[in-house]
Amino acid sequence: KEMTYKEAIEKAGNSLTRFPLIPIRGVPLMSIIANNFDSIWAFNPDPSDLLIATYPKAGTTWTQEIIDLLINNGDAEACRRAPTPVRSPFLEIHSPPPIPSGLDLLKKMDPPRIIKTHLPFQLVPQGFWENKCKAIYVARNAKDNMVSYYHFDRMNKTQPEPGPWDGYVHKFMQGQLGWGSWYDHVKGYWVEREKRNILYLFYEDMKENPARVVRTIMQYLDLSVSDEVIDRIVELTSFKNMKDNPMANYSCVPPEVFDMSISPFMRKGEVGDWKNYFTPEQLKMFDEDYEKQMKDVHIPFRSLI
Ligand code: A3P
Repeated sequence: KEMTYKEAIEKAGNSLTRFPLIPIRGVPLMSIIANNFDSIWAFNPDPSDLLIATYPKAGTTWTQEIIDLLINNGDAEACRRAPTPVRSPFLEIHSPPPIPSGLDLLKKMDPPRIIKTHLPFQLVPQGFWENKCKAIYVARNAKDNMVSYYHFDRMNKTQPEPGPWDGYVHKFMQGQLGWGSWYDHVKGYWVEREKRNILYLFYEDMKENPARVVRTIMQYLDLSVSDEVIDRIVELTSFKNMKDNPMANYSCVPPEVFDMSISPFMRKGEVGDWKNYFTPEQLKMFDEDYEKQMKDVHIPFRSLI
Protein backbone atom coordinates (compact mmCIF):
# COMPACT_ATOMS: atom_id res chain seq x y z
CA LYS A 1 0.00 0.00 0.00
CA GLU A 2 1.30 3.43 -0.92
CA MET A 3 2.11 5.85 1.89
CA THR A 4 -0.23 8.79 2.30
CA TYR A 5 1.12 12.31 2.15
CA LYS A 6 0.65 12.63 5.91
CA GLU A 7 2.54 9.40 6.57
CA ALA A 8 5.35 10.47 4.26
CA ILE A 9 5.79 13.79 6.04
CA GLU A 10 5.63 12.11 9.44
CA LYS A 11 8.32 9.66 8.35
CA ALA A 12 10.59 12.39 6.99
CA GLY A 13 9.81 14.85 9.80
CA ASN A 14 13.08 14.36 11.64
CA SER A 15 15.22 14.75 8.53
CA LEU A 16 13.77 18.15 7.75
CA THR A 17 15.88 21.12 8.83
CA ARG A 18 15.81 24.84 8.22
CA PHE A 19 17.15 24.89 4.68
CA PRO A 20 19.42 27.78 3.68
CA LEU A 21 18.46 30.09 0.83
CA ILE A 22 20.40 29.84 -2.43
CA PRO A 23 19.92 32.43 -5.17
CA ILE A 24 18.59 31.28 -8.53
CA ARG A 25 18.92 34.09 -11.05
CA GLY A 26 19.12 36.45 -8.07
CA VAL A 27 16.04 35.06 -6.30
CA PRO A 28 16.72 33.36 -2.93
CA LEU A 29 15.07 29.95 -2.82
CA MET A 30 15.29 27.21 -0.20
CA SER A 31 18.21 24.92 -1.09
CA ILE A 32 15.92 21.94 -1.68
CA ILE A 33 14.17 23.98 -4.38
CA ALA A 34 17.26 25.71 -5.77
CA ASN A 35 19.12 22.39 -6.13
CA ASN A 36 16.28 21.01 -8.24
CA PHE A 37 15.52 24.11 -10.19
CA ASP A 38 16.46 22.62 -13.59
CA SER A 39 13.74 19.99 -13.36
CA ILE A 40 11.21 22.59 -12.19
CA TRP A 41 12.11 24.93 -15.05
CA ALA A 42 11.66 22.04 -17.52
CA PHE A 43 8.12 21.26 -16.33
CA ASN A 44 5.70 21.31 -19.23
CA PRO A 45 2.08 21.80 -18.16
CA ASP A 46 -0.98 20.78 -20.09
CA PRO A 47 -2.89 23.70 -21.65
CA SER A 48 -5.84 22.81 -19.39
CA ASP A 49 -3.79 23.20 -16.19
CA LEU A 50 -4.41 26.22 -13.97
CA LEU A 51 -1.64 28.06 -12.16
CA ILE A 52 -2.23 29.79 -8.81
CA ALA A 53 0.67 32.12 -8.14
CA THR A 54 1.32 34.12 -4.98
CA TYR A 55 4.06 35.54 -2.82
CA PRO A 56 4.08 33.27 0.27
CA LYS A 57 1.26 34.05 2.73
CA ALA A 58 -0.88 36.12 0.37
CA GLY A 59 -3.92 33.81 0.51
CA THR A 60 -2.83 30.84 -1.59
CA THR A 61 -4.58 28.11 0.42
CA TRP A 62 -7.82 30.08 0.51
CA THR A 63 -7.76 30.52 -3.26
CA GLN A 64 -6.91 26.84 -3.81
CA GLU A 65 -9.94 25.85 -1.72
CA ILE A 66 -12.29 28.22 -3.55
CA ILE A 67 -11.17 26.86 -6.90
CA ASP A 68 -11.42 23.20 -5.90
CA LEU A 69 -14.97 23.88 -4.65
CA LEU A 70 -15.91 25.75 -7.82
CA ILE A 71 -14.69 22.87 -9.97
CA ASN A 72 -16.61 20.43 -7.77
CA ASN A 73 -19.78 22.53 -7.80
CA GLY A 74 -19.59 23.25 -4.07
CA ASP A 75 -19.32 19.59 -3.03
CA ALA A 76 -17.67 19.81 0.41
CA GLU A 77 -17.13 16.05 0.69
CA ALA A 78 -15.37 15.85 -2.68
CA CYS A 79 -13.02 18.61 -1.51
CA ARG A 80 -12.16 16.63 1.61
CA ARG A 81 -10.68 13.81 -0.45
CA ALA A 82 -7.11 14.83 0.45
CA PRO A 83 -5.12 17.67 2.03
CA THR A 84 -4.57 20.86 0.02
CA PRO A 85 -1.04 20.06 -1.25
CA VAL A 86 -2.24 16.71 -2.65
CA ARG A 87 -5.34 18.13 -4.33
CA SER A 88 -3.40 21.09 -5.65
CA PRO A 89 0.34 20.35 -5.82
CA PHE A 90 3.02 22.91 -5.01
CA LEU A 91 5.05 23.02 -8.22
CA GLU A 92 8.54 23.76 -6.90
CA ILE A 93 8.44 22.09 -3.50
CA HIS A 94 11.05 19.40 -3.19
CA SER A 95 11.56 17.66 0.13
CA PRO A 96 13.61 14.69 1.27
CA PRO A 97 12.04 11.31 0.38
CA PRO A 98 9.62 9.79 1.07
CA ILE A 99 7.76 13.12 0.81
CA PRO A 100 6.66 13.40 -2.81
CA SER A 101 7.87 16.53 -4.58
CA GLY A 102 5.38 18.77 -6.36
CA LEU A 103 6.63 17.33 -9.65
CA ASP A 104 6.11 13.73 -8.40
CA LEU A 105 2.52 14.49 -7.43
CA LEU A 106 1.82 16.21 -10.73
CA LYS A 107 3.17 13.27 -12.70
CA LYS A 108 0.54 11.03 -11.12
CA MET A 109 -2.39 13.35 -11.83
CA ASP A 110 -4.34 13.76 -15.02
CA PRO A 111 -4.92 17.31 -16.27
CA PRO A 112 -6.59 19.63 -15.65
CA ARG A 113 -4.59 20.23 -12.47
CA ILE A 114 -4.59 23.18 -10.08
CA ILE A 115 -0.93 23.99 -9.61
CA LYS A 116 0.37 26.24 -6.85
CA THR A 117 3.58 28.25 -7.14
CA HIS A 118 5.35 30.99 -5.23
CA LEU A 119 7.89 31.51 -8.01
CA PRO A 120 8.21 35.08 -9.27
CA PHE A 121 7.01 35.55 -12.85
CA GLN A 122 10.45 35.24 -14.45
CA LEU A 123 11.09 31.84 -12.83
CA VAL A 124 7.75 30.26 -13.82
CA PRO A 125 8.36 27.49 -16.38
CA GLN A 126 7.82 28.98 -19.82
CA GLY A 127 5.49 26.14 -20.80
CA PHE A 128 2.70 27.80 -18.81
CA TRP A 129 2.76 30.80 -21.15
CA GLU A 130 3.57 28.88 -24.34
CA ASN A 131 0.61 26.59 -23.68
CA LYS A 132 -1.59 29.55 -22.79
CA CYS A 133 -2.54 28.12 -19.39
CA LYS A 134 -4.86 30.16 -17.25
CA ALA A 135 -3.22 31.72 -14.21
CA ILE A 136 -4.58 33.43 -11.11
CA TYR A 137 -2.35 35.71 -9.08
CA VAL A 138 -3.29 36.77 -5.54
CA ALA A 139 -1.59 39.80 -4.00
CA ARG A 140 -1.84 40.90 -0.38
CA ASN A 141 -0.80 44.28 0.99
CA ALA A 142 2.89 44.31 1.89
CA LYS A 143 2.53 44.94 5.60
CA ASP A 144 0.04 42.18 6.39
CA ASN A 145 1.87 39.86 4.01
CA MET A 146 5.08 40.46 5.95
CA VAL A 147 3.47 39.90 9.37
CA SER A 148 1.95 36.65 8.15
CA TYR A 149 5.27 35.49 6.67
CA TYR A 150 7.09 36.38 9.90
CA HIS A 151 4.84 34.09 11.93
CA PHE A 152 5.05 31.39 9.29
CA ASP A 153 8.86 31.49 9.35
CA ARG A 154 8.73 31.06 13.13
CA MET A 155 6.64 27.92 12.94
CA ASN A 156 7.85 26.38 9.67
CA LYS A 157 10.97 24.43 10.58
CA THR A 158 12.14 24.18 6.96
CA GLN A 159 12.49 27.93 6.39
CA PRO A 160 15.39 30.03 7.72
CA GLU A 161 14.91 31.47 11.23
CA PRO A 162 13.11 34.79 10.98
CA GLY A 163 15.06 36.36 13.86
CA PRO A 164 13.67 39.42 15.64
CA TRP A 165 10.86 41.44 14.03
CA ASP A 166 12.96 44.57 13.42
CA GLY A 167 15.54 42.66 11.40
CA TYR A 168 12.76 40.83 9.57
CA VAL A 169 11.33 44.12 8.32
CA HIS A 170 14.72 44.92 6.78
CA LYS A 171 15.05 41.49 5.22
CA PHE A 172 11.59 41.87 3.68
CA MET A 173 12.44 45.31 2.28
CA GLN A 174 15.67 43.97 0.80
CA GLY A 175 14.09 40.88 -0.71
CA GLN A 176 16.14 38.49 1.39
CA LEU A 177 13.34 36.10 2.34
CA GLY A 178 12.45 32.84 0.60
CA TRP A 179 11.11 33.54 -2.94
CA GLY A 180 12.74 36.95 -2.87
CA SER A 181 11.37 40.44 -3.09
CA TRP A 182 7.64 41.01 -2.48
CA TYR A 183 7.94 44.20 -4.56
CA ASP A 184 9.38 42.43 -7.61
CA HIS A 185 6.87 39.59 -7.18
CA VAL A 186 3.69 41.68 -7.21
CA LYS A 187 5.03 43.94 -9.98
CA GLY A 188 6.30 41.09 -12.13
CA TYR A 189 2.85 39.52 -12.50
CA TRP A 190 1.08 42.88 -12.68
CA VAL A 191 2.98 44.03 -15.78
CA GLU A 192 2.39 40.68 -17.52
CA ARG A 193 -1.25 40.21 -16.58
CA GLU A 194 -2.85 41.42 -19.81
CA LYS A 195 -0.44 39.81 -22.22
CA ARG A 196 -0.64 36.46 -20.37
CA ASN A 197 -4.34 36.61 -19.48
CA ILE A 198 -3.55 36.42 -15.75
CA LEU A 199 -6.44 37.08 -13.37
CA TYR A 200 -4.95 39.41 -10.73
CA LEU A 201 -6.77 39.35 -7.39
CA PHE A 202 -6.32 41.03 -4.02
CA TYR A 203 -6.64 39.37 -0.60
CA GLU A 204 -8.35 42.52 0.72
CA ASP A 205 -11.09 42.23 -1.94
CA MET A 206 -11.62 38.58 -0.99
CA LYS A 207 -12.12 39.64 2.63
CA GLU A 208 -14.42 42.52 1.75
CA ASN A 209 -16.68 40.72 -0.67
CA PRO A 210 -15.84 37.03 -1.03
CA ALA A 211 -18.91 36.24 -3.14
CA ARG A 212 -17.87 38.81 -5.74
CA VAL A 213 -14.38 37.33 -5.98
CA VAL A 214 -15.72 33.76 -6.18
CA ARG A 215 -17.88 34.93 -9.11
CA THR A 216 -14.92 36.61 -10.78
CA ILE A 217 -12.93 33.38 -10.53
CA MET A 218 -15.90 31.34 -11.81
CA GLN A 219 -16.20 33.56 -14.89
CA TYR A 220 -12.47 33.48 -15.55
CA LEU A 221 -12.54 29.67 -15.45
CA ASP A 222 -15.60 29.52 -17.73
CA LEU A 223 -17.56 27.72 -15.05
CA SER A 224 -21.16 28.23 -14.14
CA VAL A 225 -22.51 27.48 -10.67
CA SER A 226 -25.75 28.63 -9.06
CA ASP A 227 -26.02 31.55 -6.62
CA GLU A 228 -26.78 29.02 -3.91
CA VAL A 229 -23.52 27.19 -4.63
CA ILE A 230 -21.61 30.49 -4.60
CA ASP A 231 -23.02 31.20 -1.14
CA ARG A 232 -22.08 27.71 0.01
CA ILE A 233 -18.52 28.15 -1.27
CA VAL A 234 -18.21 31.46 0.58
CA GLU A 235 -19.38 29.76 3.76
CA LEU A 236 -17.11 26.71 3.34
CA THR A 237 -14.09 28.94 2.73
CA SER A 238 -14.65 31.31 5.64
CA PHE A 239 -11.56 31.61 7.82
CA LYS A 240 -13.29 29.77 10.65
CA ASN A 241 -14.44 26.85 8.51
CA MET A 242 -11.07 26.43 6.83
CA LYS A 243 -9.32 26.60 10.20
CA ASP A 244 -11.52 23.69 11.36
CA ASN A 245 -11.15 21.71 8.13
CA PRO A 246 -8.36 19.12 8.51
CA MET A 247 -8.02 18.93 4.72
CA ALA A 248 -7.41 22.68 4.44
CA ASN A 249 -5.63 23.71 7.64
CA TYR A 250 -2.29 21.91 7.12
CA SER A 251 -2.79 19.70 10.17
CA CYS A 252 -1.50 16.97 7.82
CA VAL A 253 1.97 18.35 8.57
CA PRO A 254 3.42 17.11 11.89
CA PRO A 255 4.74 19.49 14.58
CA GLU A 256 8.39 18.70 13.77
CA VAL A 257 7.77 20.51 10.49
CA PHE A 258 4.95 23.01 11.17
CA ASP A 259 4.93 23.78 14.88
CA MET A 260 1.43 25.14 15.26
CA SER A 261 1.94 25.66 18.99
CA ILE A 262 4.23 28.54 17.95
CA SER A 263 1.76 29.91 15.39
CA PRO A 264 -1.07 28.10 13.59
CA PHE A 265 -1.13 27.96 9.79
CA MET A 266 -4.61 29.49 9.94
CA ARG A 267 -3.41 32.30 12.18
CA LYS A 268 -5.76 35.34 12.05
CA GLY A 269 -6.96 35.82 8.47
CA GLU A 270 -7.47 39.55 8.86
CA VAL A 271 -6.68 42.80 7.10
CA GLY A 272 -4.70 45.35 9.11
CA ASP A 273 -2.98 43.11 11.68
CA TRP A 274 0.26 44.95 10.77
CA LYS A 275 -0.89 47.78 13.03
CA ASN A 276 -0.04 45.52 15.97
CA TYR A 277 3.57 45.13 14.83
CA PHE A 278 5.10 48.24 13.26
CA THR A 279 6.58 50.91 15.52
CA PRO A 280 6.11 54.51 14.27
CA GLU A 281 9.80 54.55 13.25
CA GLN A 282 9.54 51.30 11.34
CA LEU A 283 6.42 52.57 9.63
CA LYS A 284 8.06 55.80 8.49
CA MET A 285 11.09 53.99 7.13
CA PHE A 286 8.98 51.29 5.49
CA ASP A 287 6.54 53.72 3.85
CA GLU A 288 9.36 55.86 2.42
CA ASP A 289 11.08 52.84 0.98
CA TYR A 290 7.75 51.46 -0.33
CA GLU A 291 7.14 54.65 -2.32
CA LYS A 292 10.52 54.24 -3.98
CA GLN A 293 10.20 50.53 -4.70
CA MET A 294 6.67 50.82 -6.08
CA LYS A 295 6.85 54.10 -7.99
CA ASP A 296 7.53 52.57 -11.42
CA VAL A 297 4.38 50.41 -11.45
CA HIS A 298 1.04 51.46 -10.03
CA ILE A 299 -0.87 48.56 -8.47
CA PRO A 300 -4.16 49.46 -6.79
CA PHE A 301 -3.45 48.13 -3.30
CA ARG A 302 -5.83 49.66 -0.78
CA SER A 303 -4.42 52.45 1.26
CA LEU A 304 -4.01 50.99 4.74
CA ILE A 305 -2.98 54.07 6.66
P1 A3P B 1 -2.46 35.24 8.54
O1 A3P B 1 -1.12 34.72 8.92
O2 A3P B 1 -2.47 36.73 8.41
O3 A3P B 1 -3.56 34.73 9.39
P2 A3P B 1 -1.03 31.20 2.29
O4 A3P B 1 -2.15 30.25 2.12
O5 A3P B 1 -0.65 31.95 1.06
O6 A3P B 1 0.12 30.56 2.99
O7 A3P B 1 -1.57 32.37 3.24
C1 A3P B 1 -1.85 32.16 4.59
C2 A3P B 1 -2.55 33.37 5.12
O8 A3P B 1 -3.91 33.39 4.61
C3 A3P B 1 -2.68 33.35 6.64
O9 A3P B 1 -2.76 34.72 7.04
C4 A3P B 1 -4.01 32.62 6.78
O10 A3P B 1 -4.62 32.77 8.04
C5 A3P B 1 -4.81 33.31 5.68
N1 A3P B 1 -6.01 32.56 5.30
C6 A3P B 1 -6.10 31.24 5.00
N2 A3P B 1 -7.38 30.89 4.75
C7 A3P B 1 -8.10 32.02 4.89
C8 A3P B 1 -9.49 32.31 4.76
N3 A3P B 1 -10.37 31.36 4.45
N4 A3P B 1 -9.91 33.59 4.98
C9 A3P B 1 -9.01 34.55 5.31
N5 A3P B 1 -7.69 34.34 5.44
C10 A3P B 1 -7.23 33.09 5.23
